[in-house]
Amino acid sequence: MAEIRRVGVVGGGQMGSGIAQLAAVNGLEVWLHDSDSTALSKAHQSISSTIQTLVSKGRLTEERGSEAVRNLKYTSSLEDFGCVDIVIEAILESEEVKKKLFAQLDSIVKGSVILASNTSSISITRLASATSRPSQVIGMHFMNPPPIMKLVEIIRGANTSDDTFNATKCLAERLGKKIVCSQDFSGFIVNRILMPMINEAFHALYTRVATKEDIDAGMKLGTNHPMGPLELADHIGLDVCLSIMKVLHAGLGDNKYTPCPLLVQYVDAGRLGRKKGIGVYKYSKM
Ligand code: NAI
Repeated sequence: MAEIRRVGVVGGGQMGSGIAQLAAVNGLEVWLHDSDSTALSKAHQSISSTIQTLVSKGRLTEERGSEAVRNLKYTSSLEDFGCVDIVIEAILESEEVKKKLFAQLDSIVKGSVILASNTSSISITRLASATSRPSQVIGMHFMNPPPIMKLVEIIRGANTSDDTFNATKCLAERLGKKIVCSQDFSGFIVNRILMPMINEAFHALYTRVATKEDIDAGMKLGTNHPMGPLELADHIGLDVCLSIMKVLHAGLGDNKYTPCPLLVQYVDAGRLGRKKGIGVYKYSKM
């Protein structure tokens, strides 16, 4: 498989903009697309100002910072992805919406292109079934925030080829990441274990076992976690946590994965976490 030089990223939210920044800083040309023009310009602003901050703090040379800015192209048209070597999808966590996008990408990008999904939990095999290239579809699950977190979880669908796996692994390593490899079962490794813990923390709050502060402090100080589970849920996005619990519930068929009613209620109320200024906690304007 030819060397990956141009990366297409779909979705300019917290994950997509972080992945785009990471790839650009590591010398790759990046095309970032979001179907929402406001989200796209927000991503543009946030990536540019982060790169500027990295340069001013001496964490990135001026030359690499300018190169990264030059490497980034923002587009509201998916048709521009005709030139990319790999696509990393980071749109909302919905199988239906992702499948529609994968079918669209399949008809736009070159035949050799790998279609990777940053999904937290959705079956790669089923996303691949929406395309004519199932051997070139793979899960490339970055952690939040992508420029900082060391791990990429790689998920092989039932038909993912060795070539696709090797090229994806090489790309993750080029971006400075360690990889772990998971089979294609709901939630993979990290969210299969993390999300039930977060859901249980919501149950503890819902059934008044303790205050939110004590639940988080208990897990931070008692188990040496850097963030409490409720704080972490706000950081990830409560809508994302809820979608993942629903995928675990449907995919693994066990009621222990039923989303906590309090998590459902917060999402219904628009309390989605840090990105909305309110989730389990309230945040001052970001
Ligand atoms: P987000 O809500 O911050 O961003 C999603 C973006 O996708 C939005 O800007 C939206 O306008 C755009 N979008 C939606 N449908 C689209 C379409 N059809 N075409 C183009 N753009 C579209 O979501 P976030 O948190 O960045 O999550 C994205 C993906 O990454 C999800 O699959 C999520 O499960 C996964 N993920 C999230 C993590 C987190 O901590 N939030 C961690 C690891 C993976």
